[in-house]
Formats: sequence, structure tokens, C-alpha cells
Amino acid sequence: MENTMLFPQVGGFLHGGDYNPEQWLDRPDILEEDVRLMKKAGINSATLGVFSWSVYEPAEGEFHFEWLEKIMDRLYENGIYTILATPSGARPAWLDAAYPEAMRVSDRNVRNHHGGRHNHCMSSPKYREKVALIDQKLAQRLGRHPGLLMWHISNELGGACYCPLCAQRFRDYLAEKFDHDIEKLNKAWWTTFWSHRYHSFDQIEPPFAHGERSIMGLNLEWKRFTSWNMQDFMKHEIAVLKKVTPEIPVTTNFMELYYGLDYRKLAKDLDVISWDSYPRFHNDYESFADTMLWNAFQHALMRSLKPQKPFMLMESTPSLVNWHPFNKLKRPGVHKLACLQAVGCGSDTVQYFQWRKGRGSYEQFHGAVVDHDGSGETRVFREVAEVGEILQRLAPMAGSLVKARAALLFDWDNRWAIDDVGALGRQTKRYEDTCMKIWKEFRRLGVEMDVVASDEDLSRYGVVVAPMLYMLQPDTARTLRAFVEHGGQLLATYFTGYVDENQLCFLGGFPGDGLSDLFGIVSEEIDTLYPADRNHVAFSDGTRWEVRDYAELLRLKDARVLAVYEEDFYRGRAAVTCKEYPGGGKAYYVAARSEAGQMRPLFARLLQDAGIPEKDLPENVDYCSRVGGECVYDCYFNYGTEPATIFGVRGFDMISEGYVDGELTLPAYGAAILKMETSGEPSGEP
Ligand code: GLA
Ligand code: ZN
Repeated sequence: MENTMLFPQVGGFLHGGDYNPEQWLDRPDILEEDVRLMKKAGINSATLGVFSWSVYEPAEGEFHFEWLEKIMDRLYENGIYTILATPSGARPAWLDAAYPEAMRVSDRNVRNHHGGRHNHCMSSPKYREKVALIDQKLAQRLGRHPGLLMWHISNELGGACYCPLCAQRFRDYLAEKFDHDIEKLNKAWWTTFWSHRYHSFDQIEPPFAHGERSIMGLNLEWKRFTSWNMQDFMKHEIAVLKKVTPEIPVTTNFMELYYGLDYRKLAKDLDVISWDSYPRFHNDYESFADTMLWNAFQHALMRSLKPQKPFMLMESTPSLVNWHPFNKLKRPGVHKLACLQAVGCGSDTVQYFQWRKGRGSYEQFHGAVVDHDGSGETRVFREVAEVGEILQRLAPMAGSLVKARAALLFDWDNRWAIDDVGALGRQTKRYEDTCMKIWKEFRRLGVEMDVVASDEDLSRYGVVVAPMLYMLQPDTARTLRAFVEHGGQLLATYFTGYVDENQLCFLGGFPGDGLSDLFGIVSEEIDTLYPADRNHVAFSDGTRWEVRDYAELLRLKDARVLAVYEEDFYRGRAAVTCKEYPGGGKAYYVAARSEAGQMRPLFARLLQDAGIPEKDLPENVDYCSRVGGECVYDCYFNYGTEPATIFGVRGFDMISEGYVDGELTLPAYGAAILKMETSGEPSGEP
């Protein structure tokens, strides 16, 4: 079996976090104490240098890495590995003074002043040159350090720049994409509308807030370009590091379902996926279980970016953050629960922002393992130390993988297109929310779902759900057809297949590109309801779903009608249809928006036909599982504030270190990870 363990030298899970010793170089006593406390908390890794540029290079060309080397040495001597960041997350003052082109320009064409972070011009040749130089120096000096585990590129890449350099790069990108033929672009973007034809690529500007925003193709291509340019910048950094240390893996820390970058594209250039998880625990707008499932969805998305490897939870807070609208404390036990959830969902690391709270500046009150009191006695510290102990017990699980047989299609392009399109209801498009709610409902059925691209190979799945797939990639229709023809259970919804990859409408009936044949329907019209409007759909067995927001009017071709509308002028017309294929494949079309919870029986039917077993889970209990090294690790989490009992389970609980046979009771916020040999025997041996 392939060894998928991320860090064989560690031999288990990483437990660590962002460590900023550069803020404490005048306090050797504190740096000393850090190591003692890290060992006490069961920390085996530290992420160094994320924002160290102004200490590494206080003046242009003057480099100081000796302090870092000392810290890495000391950590390593104490069994603590280093993840080393490139410092390109924030620029030193001298750089902006010497090269103002590095400072980003807003969509109102205003250049930033020096300050903040994550706000560079990704096109600036000078910035790229300075980043390459410091990365190279860093790699040459510390790339061979025995404590170095991996490179962490920059920090939370994101945002967009509208400066003249970026605008020119955008034009070059477009010329390349459209074969230097402006007529091709005009056609793809439908620019004769409002007399917006371009006569040369030089006339094209980014979609400034006070400029051209009425060309859907331009808006979309700008987002693609921004993502591509960020990726190009990231690749530029990776190339420098790989030249010096080809064997050291690289990652960059993603931000949940971040809007501005197509993470699926960036993922291709990374060795490992990592992300920063900051759920709004205990909020006032959803249940705690919903918040936890929101987080599980993000984990699934990250995991699906590289399903052949575990991912990394690069950051999470040990207690609270400082940037939510309300910075609430995690209740006792929730830290452990969230860390174990990450593990259950496929992470091989539990890492924090941050190790120690700084004394000043914007993040001085952001949660940390070590608070301003400096002790290892706090509630938060003790909970972190407990996680450290548990992770050691879980070590044999590292390298195991989540294997999903169901998938949810989610495309960034589609997301951007839906957001931009002048149609539907401004407040009710909610593409991400719709996807997440469906994903959560499958998870409540005990079924793991990957989150994949609409043109990916779907052959490993039995069930595929494609909510609101408004934009089809060139390969989407072919992929979906192959999936159904090979026996797959496919479900699509209203607002599917309206436009191609340039956002041009398909002619000849929606869903386009042949999908109308696949589903056996034509979607003729879409009705957008006001928030208080309701309709219903009724199935022949008497089941009813409430309809809100969207209702499509279908013309039947050769699909079977499963449910019809109950009200309004389209009363009695098809609302849910199914077309069956000889190999057992089925293509379902749900023409209206209903709550995912109401759609559950339909989801269950798809699962049953695909032979994917559901789990009978008590309310608030979540289940997921990892497989590896001849063992299955079944994870159960209680998101409720009352104890919960699960029946019919077996295995060796690696958390409580006891055998479970039949019945498992989890306390409030409790978790269990049951290890079984794939032969079916509970396994208590590491
Ligand atoms: C992000 C950043 C960190 C820190 C945390 C605070 O994840 O990467 O540098 O600012 O947020 O939550
Ligand atoms: Zn720029």
C-alpha cells in the first residue's frame, strides 16, 4: 500500500501552530519558556517566519537569518519540527518606499499606502524579484535544516490588483486566450450589446467599479485572470524553493470556500493542501451542529482537492479570534471536538494560530495557546495539552484516507457567474449555501461526499449531486452523460445548463449542451419568488415539499414525472422528474428550490439505488471515517449538549482506550474514534 503519511519523520499527527519568535527577540527568557511549554502541550511543530521579512531584511540587501537558525536548532533539539513560511505575506517599509509598484491598486484605481498585509501587486516585476531573492536566501540558509518539514508559501493568498501592470498582464492573458483575435473575444463576450465592441486588445480595461461591468464575459475572465495571476505568483515562489530543496513539500494556507481564487487550479501546484479553519462557534443564527457541519463541509472541500493524501489543518484558534463580529469563547470541550473533527475528516495535522499572544498591534487579543499570563495553567492551555496527548494515541491513523462514494459538484467559475448574472433574485441566489445545505443533509444520512469539479472524472462515485450548475464547462455534459450511462445516480436542480464557459446562453433549450436529452426535459422559464411567496410540490405518495425562491417551468420530453407543482398558474406541471437508463443509471431533475431536509427521502432513494449505505444516527451525532493500513477508523462526534447513544457500533476507541461493542454513549461535545481491522476485528494494537 502506498505510504500516504505526510511526514514520515514525525510518524504521526502534527500538533503545532504559527510561532512568532521575531516579536520576542529581546526576551530570551520567553523564547526559552516557549520550548518548555511547547513540550508540555505536546507540540511537535511550529510554523515560523510567516511575517518575518522586516527582521530578515531590515534594509534592502542586508539579511539576518541567524536568529531563525538558532530557534530552529533549539526547537529541533527538543523534538519540534519547523514549517517555514516564505515572508511574502507582508512587505517591509523599505520595499514599498523603493518600489511603489508593489502596492496594490483598488477597483476605484486608488493605490494603497504602505501597511497592512496580503495586499501586493502580484504582477509587479520588482516585487517578484524581491520575493524570489529572499526566498532563495532563506532556502539556501535553512533548506537543509534537519528540522525543516515543509515550505508554507506566503500567507492566505487573496485579493485583486487593478494597477496598470495588472491591466497590461490581463490584456496579454486575453490576447493569448483568444488567439490574438479581437473578433473571437467580441463574439465570446457578446460585445455588440450596448455598442461595447473592442477593436484591439489595448482597449480592454479591468472591470473597475466605475468602469465596464456590463460584459459578463469580461467580469468572469477578470476573476479567472486574478486567480491565474495569483497562481502564477505562487508558482514563482515554489520554483525558487524547489530549485534549492526539491525534496521539501510545499503548501499554502487556503481560507475555507474563499471567493477570489479557484483553489482547484492552485491545488495542482501544491504538494499538500492546507487550510485555516475559523468557524463562528456558538453563534445566534444556527445550531452548533450546523456550525460544525459547515466546518466539515470545508474540510471535505479541502480533502477533495487532493483526495489521494491527507490534508492539513494549518490554522485554527485554541480559544477565540479577534475578527468575527462577536468574538465568543469556545465552550469547554469544543476545542478538542473541533480538532478531532479535522482528523476525522482527513487532516493529518492540528495547528493553531497562534502559539503565543503578542503584546501589541491588531492581533494582540487573538486567541493563542499561551496567553499574556504566560503560564501553562490556563483552561485553554490545558485543553490544547489534552489534544496533544490524544493525537499521540491516534498516531497509527496518520496517513489513512477518507473514501467517499458520493460527490457534490461545485465550480468556482459557476459561482462567479451566478453571482454576476443579471437574473433571479439579488438576495436569494445563494449558490454556496444551497450546495452546503445539500452536502450537510447527506452527511446527516451518514454519507461522506467529496466536493469536486463539474468536469472531473466521476467514475468512482455512485451518487452525484449538481446543484444550480448554471455554467457548463466544455466537458461537463460529456462527463455527466458518461456517469449516468455507467449506472450513476445523478441529481441536478433548477438553473442548470443555461450558459457556456464564456457565459453565452445555450440555444435550443436549457439545460444545454445535450443535457436536456440526458434529463429528458426542457426548462422553459424560471419564476423567481419574493421571499414571502410559497409554492409546493406534491409526490404521488403524498409527500410535499415547500418551494421558495425558484420554480422552473418544465416541458417534458421523455422523463418520468415524480412530483408536480400544487399552486399558481403552473399548478400540475412537472417539478421533479427522473429519466432512467438501461444500466440502472438515473438522471433526476428538481426544478424548484426546497429545503435540503425535505429532499432527504429523494437523497435516500439515490443512495439506495447506488448501494451506498446510510447510517441511522441520533440527532446531533456526526459520523465520518478513514481507511488505511488494513484498518478502518470510524469517527463519531456529538455536537449536542446532551449525551447521545449510538447503537450497532464496534471497535477499539482510540480516544478513551476501551473496546466498544454494540452501544456507544458520547457525552456532550464528545468524540470517539473506533478502530477496526478491515477484516472486521476491533483493533487495539497501534
Ligand atoms: C489568518 C491568518 C493569520 C491570522 C489569523 C487570525 O488565518 O493567516 O495570520 O491573522 O487569520 O485568525
Ligand atoms: Zn497590480
